[in-house]
Amino acid sequence: MSWTREDLQELVKSKLAGRLFIVVSNREPYVHVSSGDEIQCVVPASGLTVALDPMMRACGGVWVAHGSGNADREMVDEKNRVLVPPDERSYSLRRIWLTAEEEEGYYLGFSNEALWPLCHVAYTPPSFDEADWNTYKRVNQLFADAVLDEVGDKQAFVFIQDYHLALLSRLIKAKNPEVVTAQFWHIPWPNSEVFRICPWGEELLDGLLGNDLLGFHIGYHCDNFLETVSRTLESKIDYERSVVSRGGGATLVRPFPISVDFDRIAQDAAGRGVTEEMERIRRKWGLNDEYIGVGVDRVDYTKGIPHRFWALDKFLAKYPEYQGRVVFFQLAEPSRTHIRKYMELNLEIDDLIEEVNWRYQSGRWKPIIYIKEHLSPIAVAAFHRLAHFCVVSSLHDGMNLVAKEFVSSRVDEDGVLMLSRFTGAARELTDALLLNPYAIDRFADTIKEAIEMPKRQRQAMMRKLRQNVQQNNIYQWAGSIISELSGLGL
Ligand code: F6P
Repeated sequence: MSWTREDLQELVKSKLAGRLFIVVSNREPYVHVSSGDEIQCVVPASGLTVALDPMMRACGGVWVAHGSGNADREMVDEKNRVLVPPDERSYSLRRIWLTAEEEEGYYLGFSNEALWPLCHVAYTPPSFDEADWNTYKRVNQLFADAVLDEVGDKQAFVFIQDYHLALLSRLIKAKNPEVVTAQFWHIPWPNSEVFRICPWGEELLDGLLGNDLLGFHIGYHCDNFLETVSRTLESKIDYERSVVSRGGGATLVRPFPISVDFDRIAQDAAGRGVTEEMERIRRKWGLNDEYIGVGVDRVDYTKGIPHRFWALDKFLAKYPEYQGRVVFFQLAEPSRTHIRKYMELNLEIDDLIEEVNWRYQSGRWKPIIYIKEHLSPIAVAAFHRLAHFCVVSSLHDGMNLVAKEFVSSRVDEDGVLMLSRFTGAARELTDALLLNPYAIDRFADTIKEAIEMPKRQRQAMMRKLRQNVQQNNIYQWAGSIISELSGLGL
């Protein structure tokens, strides 16, 4: 039996016992943008928001996040709130406004030029800037003020997301110690040797230990965190129970592998909208009986995007019989484009695609089709369904939900998932073709293996993958966190 939205609703009713439920994240689940005279509501390309939206639809409550859309201010009431999702209006989104300078120091600067590369260890060095750190602290305080305002004199459970808000629980509890907080860290946690170069490591750890519960995707990240704490701070660690005690408070540290809304994705993928879109794509790109590969990523140096093109290049050189017979669609969502490393990566990818296509193209055929724009969930599902194989080649990833979305959308129980060993998802999705993105020759052979895999084998693997994601879905994830919290005497 897999968890459903109704199961989660029941659990919330019984365990949260009337507490106000507040989610806090940097990224908002719905962004209002104006195009011409119209205002559109866009779902951003973010694993975090895609995963948490179904939970909020089920639980209701308030989601506090940065209002980043150019029409966001036009849609809120005097308390900066708007009801979302537009088709259901089941929870409140409270928007926080940041100046360009705040966004630069807190989001682009400390979060994404320091913490992101520090935690991913993808061989892009972090840079630490004191002014960014000060802005990060100031913006965490802005979030804390908004949360405290929402809480008022109610009893509340605050569920904080990710590395942008490491100081938040302490700041909230300094004003209101009654609030129960849990935080989920959506990216990897590195070992202590790596973490120790951060000049403000102690403050970050102390901030995170303000939480009653701290979650990571996998046990390995929890172990790294506990080891980092033991080498950095004065505290007592109970390794049996995985609890850190410090300054009168205690934090339970546990793995909770995040997931997706399997049933909803599967239902949408089987719908008419997706089948029509598949037809449209076939016509637009003149597809006949080619083998289709797909990659769906934010353009980020942790995703190993160049590595998959190097592997494709090697594959076409090594197995020339496949020239003209394989088309790889790379769907790319521009991301953090004001950061220099990301600008460089964009140029590198453009050049590489040009080079590989130039080497092999003949007539109307070219091996890589690059679609660099925001696509609707229907369009992404259509590409997933058309694909003979999907490539996830992250150099390091906390979880990677694209892998789980691909599996959920394969209602036909076909298609091969090629998955980097260095994703959290690889620990669960062991029926994928696992690969090391740095080992280009073997990666090229894995593409061949995926293409040549007999249908029966593909289906057997996909069936097992689907059972896994269906069982360990997003409701199960949220349910385990809430049950764990209630075990703490919430
Ligand atoms: O992996 C952490 C994460 O927050 C993901 O959940 C999400 O896909 C990505 O980063 C989004 O990044 P941003 O919010 O910077 O666009």
